[in-house]
Amino acid sequence: MSLNYQDRIPNNVELGSNRILQRALEHWQPEFMRWWQDLGPTDFQASDVYLRTAISVDTKGWATFGYVRMPEYRWGIFLADPENDRRIGFGDNLGEPAWQQVPGEHRANLRRLIVTQGDTEPASVEQQRLLGHTAPSLYDLRNLFQVNVEEGRHLWAMVYLLHAYFGRDGREEAEELLERHSGDADKPRILGTFNEPIRDWLSFFMFTYFTDRDGKFQLKCLAESGFDPLSRTCRFMLTEEAHHMFVGDTGISRVIKRCLEVMKELNTDDPVAIRKAGAIDLPTIQKYLNFWFSTSIDLFGGDSSSNAASYFANGLKGRPDEAKFEDHVAAGQAFALELPDGAGGVRTGEIPMRNAMNEVAREAYLKDCEQGMARWNRVIEKFGYSFRMTLPSPRFRRNVGSWAGVPVDTTGKIISREEYNARLSEWLPTDDDRAFVYSRMHGVFEAGKIASWIAPPERGINGLPFEYEYVRLQ
Ligand SMILES: [Fe+2]
Ligand SMILES: [Fe+2]
Repeated sequence: MSLNYQDRIPNNVELGSNRILQRALEHWQPEFMRWWQDLGPTDFQASDVYLRTAISVDTKGWATFGYVRMPEYRWGIFLADPENDRRIGFGDNLGEPAWQQVPGEHRANLRRLIVTQGDTEPASVEQQRLLGHTAPSLYDLRNLFQVNVEEGRHLWAMVYLLHAYFGRDGREEAEELLERHSGDADKPRILGTFNEPIRDWLSFFMFTYFTDRDGKFQLKCLAESGFDPLSRTCRFMLTEEAHHMFVGDTGISRVIKRCLEVMKELNTDDPVAIRKAGAIDLPTIQKYLNFWFSTSIDLFGGDSSSNAASYFANGLKGRPDEAKFEDHVAAGQAFALELPDGAGGVRTGEIPMRNAMNEVAREAYLKDCEQGMARWNRVIEKFGYSFRMTLPSPRFRRNVGSWAGVPVDTTGKIISREEYNARLSEWLPTDDDRAFVYSRMHGVFEAGKIASWIAPPERGINGLPFEYEYVRLQ
């Protein structure tokens, strides 16, 4: 289906044939623009940014690249093409035709899923709004803005569903998506991680690696939904999301590489010397990783969840890559969970498989996260050092689920509360660590130049060299 860029709101949902919906969205559009101006990236709005824009929704060759001023980015509504005779792929309605309208009995739950997903999209833009000023290169600045405009588009994706399928309460929810703000004392964003400020680029890379990856898995689960418009929306969002994780993956890798270069140059692994030379030492990178990993895995929800069970039973939210599972009903199966026994030990508990769907998604996520570790560790190995980046245990520093509040070290061992408190500064960035990292953040806005704490990328965007002027500052 071709994308219509003639309408005020670009779309491939034949918006022009539904006047009421079109008008409602055209009413929301200036509110979105006001939000973008107030809470999107600070400054840089007049600069020309080398951005990609969707030209089709298939996975191959969907993007066109060119200079765009961010406020002129064509945010729009793009759904993946419909699948012929699509059926519900899991749960109690397995095999029935997918819904093209919201079934009345699932309306509240579907709305809740869409609002929760929708809330994260503008939240991340708000969290990242100051980062442009300290971009380590024009290449990185461009990537930041690409991520930001696409998160803005993901908000559009969810707002379209709310307007098109949920009537008046959907429209109200769409307004509220612009009224809650990240970190706001009175009206914060729904999920905790999206209220954490992102003041430095190491956090930004960790966020795009770990938190956007949670987004990827949530979208994968929603792409399985029996509510077909939600599925189609999420399938296209996933193609955009891949770039966000690329930014995180290669960003972390480049910070590590720069540290290793300095270690080689100075022939030392002393963090003090490395920091003095302007790079970020590996133990500090590991601490940031511990922080963002542990805050991101909470986003999957409780390990035993009756909500997750009913979402699955009703065909609203499936497992990531549902087709890979043998049994799509998952009734009568059990899932083994390791739980704290309340006396300092661990016991194995069994819960119904359907109640364990959050945990199933979290496990798939963990495996995906490991791939980055392996790549980064190969870089460290190539430089001849024995340090290894590791994922902390998923029990570490949890705020959600059976392990919430249990004092556990990064290997997953239960320890005393005193030991936990005493050792937190070993595992998580201290105020001093954060102050040091922040002190390294200075904007480098000359094409081909880069800050001293990060290595340049191996290649640029769209086949262009790193030295390309990805942002023309105005
Ligand atoms: Fe997103
Ligand atoms: Fe994203």
